[in-house]
Amino acid sequence: MDARSIIEKVRDGIEPTQADLSWFAGGLASGGVTDAQAGAFAMAVLLKGLSEEARVALTLAMRDSGDVLKWDLGGPAIDKHSTGGIGDCVSLLLAPMLAAVGLYVPMISGRGLGHTGGTLDKLEAIPGLKTDVTEQVFRQMTGEIGCAIVSATADMAPADRRLYAVRDVTSTVESIDLITASILSKKLAAGLDALILDVKVGSGAFMETADDARALARSLVRTSNGAGCPTAALITDMNQPLAPAAGNALEVAVIMEALIAPRNDRMTDVSVALGAELMVLAGLETSVEAAAGKLLDALKSGAAVERFDRMVAALGGPKEFSASWKQKLPEANVIRDVAAPASGTVAAIDGHAIGMAVVRMGGGRLRGGDRIDPSVGFDQIVSIGDTVAKGQPIARLHAASERAAKAAEEAMAGAVTIGQAGETPDLIKERIGG
Ligand code: URA
Repeated sequence: MDARSIIEKVRDGIEPTQADLSWFAGGLASGGVTDAQAGAFAMAVLLKGLSEEARVALTLAMRDSGDVLKWDLGGPAIDKHSTGGIGDCVSLLLAPMLAAVGLYVPMISGRGLGHTGGTLDKLEAIPGLKTDVTEQVFRQMTGEIGCAIVSATADMAPADRRLYAVRDVTSTVESIDLITASILSKKLAAGLDALILDVKVGSGAFMETADDARALARSLVRTSNGAGCPTAALITDMNQPLAPAAGNALEVAVIMEALIAPRNDRMTDVSVALGAELMVLAGLETSVEAAAGKLLDALKSGAAVERFDRMVAALGGPKEFSASWKQKLPEANVIRDVAAPASGTVAAIDGHAIGMAVVRMGGGRLRGGDRIDPSVGFDQIVSIGDTVAKGQPIARLHAASERAAKAAEEAMAGAVTIGQAGETPDLIKERIGG
């Protein structure tokens, strides 16, 4: 077997075999496949597409290019994956809630990508907390606390790390086949019994149209089920930030409020809906309604915040963080309101523009390896349908300097369209089952 003949098959629309794809993924991981060959393979897949069987085979081959965890826990090991958005801090709320109802959440998360924030960057806004732990600590936390949000080790799905870097510079990131194999190879390497996918659609998402989001959700759900992991997807709204904040420490603050004094808001609703699906997929409940009730009980009883505190301490953060979070989270130098440029109703919010404003303030990376300033971003962001008077706040900005504040202020004012009342977008748009 050799890389050239496998690339030729994909290029000519001939189905590659499972053995071909295992060989190729092995070559990506070992270095036996060159960057040029990886780029040609990615372009051939983007242009010709893969069959469902080949997509499953590529996913499994990439998963098996490194360590695949196996668990011996008191219940199912499950996880959630979001395709990314603005103010999407669901993982931080959902993982401890699921742990509190008896599930085990070995959550291998990512960092910010493009305009979207990453769960690891958010958690690391907590002073002292580090998400790169040994496999032993990861296993211990998952078994004892029920949830562990950590970064992937270098030994998990190494074929994806290599192919992702090549895709990034060869205009092949967009391929749904490759996105599917990339996301799932990493998630399935965590040895899951069930997975829920939160596929975001709208101005702050990578998928801006319903058709694109549905195509990605279907590909992910079919491939993951085909790989033997019970999986479903919810397509959820990203036409406005999910939480009223965007920025690492500011989103942690929102989570602490939601864990300590639970309320009905978009972020809690999406978290509970995703968690309820997982409880049913994992066989813990037979109806999503009953499952949702248990998750809300776990939140209101304080069981979820107790798990969150234990996870923070186990990752090196402060002990009993929920008692001291207001003093512990970093604060930016410049904090001030952004004034509404006109009176009217908030008709639309450009999530992508808000995300990029946070990145430019230093809350995300413009280049790999950039250091993040966890304190910057926006909070108290208005929602679609709110009425505002000219000069009233539409958000509060947190910046490192007056110069950065000025640019962020303009970006936020430009991102919020004030006009006539329109339709408030549905939060949960569609469920895609296996
Ligand atoms: N996230 C991933 O991990 N891979 C992709 O290809 C896209 C998003």
